Amino acid sequence: MPGQPKRVGVLISGTGSNMKALVEASRKPGCPYQVACVVSNKADAGGIAWAQAEGIPTHVLSHRNFPTREAFDAALNGYLQSQQLDIIACAGFMRIMTPVLISPWAGRMLNIHPSLLPKYKGLRTHERALAAGDAEAGCTVHMVTAELDDGPVLGQARVPVLPGDTPETLAARVLREEHKLYPSILASFAGTMPASR
Ligand code: GAR
Repeated sequence: MPGQPKRVGVLISGTGSNMKALVEASRKPGCPYQVACVVSNKADAGGIAWAQAEGIPTHVLSHRNFPTREAFDAALNGYLQSQQLDIIACAGFMRIMTPVLISPWAGRMLNIHPSLLPKYKGLRTHERALAAGDAEAGCTVHMVTAELDDGPVLGQARVPVLPGDTPETLAARVLREEHKLYPSILASFAGTMPASR
């Protein structure tokens, strides 16, 4: 018998289109996860306004108010621990995270990255794929570990690189795949996770 949907905390920094895709998928019958809260390190993240309007609990924690990465990560972890979460989904969360935040969620923290990892960890992934002359690009959902964009891969989606592509046109093509890949991988992950509450 399926248990309660797993409670997911989604971390964002901007538009939050992946977060929206996760929320929309969670509302379909039988989805094994629910988005319990959306957290941003930026108050003006578009995704925060959208989540608020949808009635999803939100929390803004500006990294600028903390003297070190570790201090910010400790405060963020404190909030996440208070929300009875099963899973953390980073969705365009543009922060390098320290073990202070990662370790408590080891094995329960996922990220989406806009490249076919292990290619192009870090930033400017589409620009780098075009500069390399790659015939295809894509996105990866992976477990978060202490190394940046390095944890075990849970799934990837591929798109062709087309003649005349710019970083923007390629990013848009990849983003459409991100919106399908992330909900699907998160649902599989949540659905196979043992009951914890
Ligand atoms: C997405 O393309 C996501 O893969 C990327 O930022 C974008 C966020 O868009 N993440 C990273 O680059 C993480 N290193 P969104 O806010 O519309 O979901």
